[in-house]
Amino acid sequence: MRITVLGTGYLGATHAAAMAELGFEVLGVDVDPVKVDALSRGELPFHEPGLPELLRKHTGTGRLRFTTSYEQAGAFGDVHFVGVGTPQRPGSQAADMSYVEAAVTAIAAAATRDCVIAGKSTVPVGSARRLAALAAEHARDGVSVELVWNPEFLREGFAVADTLSPDRMVLGIADDTGGAAAEAVLRQVYARQLGSGVPLIVTDYETAELVKVAANAFLATKISFINALSEITETAGGDIRTLADAIGMDERIGRKFLNAGVGFGGGCLPKDIRALRARAAELGVGESVRFLAEVEDINTRRREHTVATVTEMLGGSVVGAQVAVLGAAFKPDSDDVRDSPALDIAARLHSIGAEVAVVDPQANANAAARYPRLDYVESLEAAVAGAEVVVLLTEWARFKAMTPEELAPLVAERRILDGRNVLDPARWTDAGWDYRALGRRATP
Ligand code: UGA
Repeated sequence: MRITVLGTGYLGATHAAAMAELGFEVLGVDVDPVKVDALSRGELPFHEPGLPELLRKHTGTGRLRFTTSYEQAGAFGDVHFVGVGTPQRPGSQAADMSYVEAAVTAIAAAATRDCVIAGKSTVPVGSARRLAALAAEHARDGVSVELVWNPEFLREGFAVADTLSPDRMVLGIADDTGGAAAEAVLRQVYARQLGSGVPLIVTDYETAELVKVAANAFLATKISFINALSEITETAGGDIRTLADAIGMDERIGRKFLNAGVGFGGGCLPKDIRALRARAAELGVGESVRFLAEVEDINTRRREHTVATVTEMLGGSVVGAQVAVLGAAFKPDSDDVRDSPALDIAARLHSIGAEVAVVDPQANANAAARYPRLDYVESLEAAVAGAEVVVLLTEWARFKAMTPEELAPLVAERRILDGRNVLDPARWTDAGWDYRALGRRATP
């Protein structure tokens, strides 16, 4: 069985390397020749722990190759995974389906052998049924092209482990005999995972598409729930971390994704809740997920509140103040700055007159491409030098490990805002710092 992966971004590159690791001959396909050249040399164009090693291992043996040619892919593959992006459409909340449509059309037209197209991209419900018709329309005479929907649940920073050992797999299949045949092919591809006990849920297209967006919408809601409660503890008193620990011990709730702070970002959660709202509205059931507008508002308010707190700590104005921003990536172990709360807050502070020095262990270059006017520095020490306030926004291990003693001689003023609730308040307060956190009442 030979596999292609269409689109070699975050999802596609990880999936291609993981399929090679499972023992398949894999061809990664991308329309960008620069990306294809880099990957062919075993070079990963983004940061993901463990993936460079896997890429080098399999490009080295020739088991994993990359091309820009759909012709080559159509002649090569028995299974074509679609991992191209579905970004937010400019000027709209909806997902841009043009890359997925182009990939499915191109591979269906190029396929010279019977094959299965397995969609992995996050798409609005109803897309798979339409894409299956598109594939059938473009397939060559005598060549069978079946489509299945096989959403991906990997997290950045854990992409390799999540792909090789997922907690579940979902397969949406057509409701005819072709669907059953395609299911059998996918069961063969995932034989190793299924053999080691990973559950596989086989369902219809619509459920499979919705599982993905529903999971991300639920996670976003969980984060905004705890952040909403942190607005209350900030005013009434109370400690949001203890509150999260206590409710999280109820197994029905669970402690994960209850970390209050500056909120969620990245290339998935924000875009997916917007796309779900847009799709629900198209279907005439917009009110069903109207609460997601509130989920997003709570998330935006965290950013505004962070800027307001920094302003207050500086005595009412940030103009000309030296602010050290620790973190630019939307979360640690990633160089991704898409919809990043950290970078947004840094840019907001700069726009109202602060002198902002940003440090991120991996994301400085991506951040500088997006907001070139901030001052990007290479070390924590350089960022905090002369700072009148230190603002921790992405919980990288280095920032979690820093101590009040090591920072004190470097800063101009001992003020710190812990935007991720990862520092020990007593430790910083006892060392004479004005320590603030989101969801924990300011020290008197
Ligand atoms: C998310 C999902 O977790 C994956 O399951 C999914 O496959 C992926 O989107 C996708 O659709 O491709 P990811 O975007 O990598 O993965 O990031 P998460 O780990 O979910 O974090 C999202 C954001 O929420 C980050 O900004 C993080 O800092 C924030 N977060 C997370 C919190 O503010 N609090 C928490 O308790 C947890």
